[in-house]
Amino acid sequence: MNRSNHRPILAKISGVGHYMPEKVLTNHDLEKLVDTNDEWIVSRTGISERRIVADGEFTSHMSVNAINELLETTDTDVSEIDVIIVATVTPDRLFPSTACLVQEKIGAKNCWGFDLSAACSGFVFGLNTASRFVESGAYKKIIVVGVDTMSSIMNYKDRNTCILFGDGAGAVLVEPSEEEGFGIIDSLSSIDGSGAEHLYMPAGGSEKPASHETVDADEHYLHQDGKKVYIDAVRGMADISIKILEKNGLNGEDIDLFIPHQANKRIIDSTAKRLKIDSSKVVINIGSYGNTTAGTIPLGLYDAVQDGRLKKGYVTVLAAFGAGYTLGSTLLKWAY
Ligand code: UT7
Repeated sequence: MNRSNHRPILAKISGVGHYMPEKVLTNHDLEKLVDTNDEWIVSRTGISERRIVADGEFTSHMSVNAINELLETTDTDVSEIDVIIVATVTPDRLFPSTACLVQEKIGAKNCWGFDLSAACSGFVFGLNTASRFVESGAYKKIIVVGVDTMSSIMNYKDRNTCILFGDGAGAVLVEPSEEEGFGIIDSLSSIDGSGAEHLYMPAGGSEKPASHETVDADEHYLHQDGKKVYIDAVRGMADISIKILEKNGLNGEDIDLFIPHQANKRIIDSTAKRLKIDSSKVVINIGSYGNTTAGTIPLGLYDAVQDGRLKKGYVTVLAAFGAGYTLGSTLLKWAY
């Protein structure tokens, strides 16, 4: 889905909100659950700890908290929201959509919305979709949430996967940009279903509905061929980043800030190296959050805004790779 360069209206991100559960699950906590150790996890993934929901916290709950912060900081009345896009692979329920549950909880009376299933690329796909909606002139205020409760599908007996993931939510407001040249300059989204068997949840869908057998066989948890996904992620995330840069006549040195999906610090380092981006320009927060799937990039945006690393006018690239496979990148000139 490549976009043309002839767009009268440019969309921009005008605010970021977030929610992280308070409960911390450290590598040392995991040492008590599976045969692993802090040194292995840190050196192979860059992760020291991750956040995990408490009882009563789940995907719509985290989304609502992130949105409330977003509405407050952007001084937006909820009645102004036109669309809510919730990117997640861990919805509260298979249906109705988490977007409907969120809409009711925040009292957004004048909007429609939907869930977007693209795993770790979910937020980027949601943002790319929202920017198209705004550019078309159809909508003026869109909330995109990247949120996942990965602990709800994690097998805490499987050391290959349970060390990697955490819970969290980030939300952005997308609206028309008033300043020429500021906002979302370009976006790329793509899928490659040949990767479907390498990262997935086997049961609980129409192919294999829940049964005693599927529960006994641990098929309601995330399954991953880590090595294969690692190799494909390194190539995929770099490729889609290079493609958006080349399409816009840029290279790695033109980037002020790179915010990649956070699956493994080694994947991020390899991607930055291939793009020739200095490590000082790469947002890395995987150490304290783990892989929050659709949450990683809006949380990266949030942290970068908070700590002052993301400034108005900065040429910024977002890049994601996830189950599906799904791949996405966004080129922005930060608008505030
Ligand atoms: O968001 C997108 C989706 N996810 C990803 O992009 C993740 C992609 N994959 C990865 O990040 C990495 O492949 C992992 C972190 C999952 C694994 O790292 P690795 O360097 O590829 O390790 P490995 O799977 O090759 O395992 C090396 C060794 C094995 O032992 P042997 O066979 O060499 O004796 C594993 O059994 O490490 C062992 N191992 C562990 N040891 C301690 C695997 N997991 C653990 C563990 N603690 N948690």
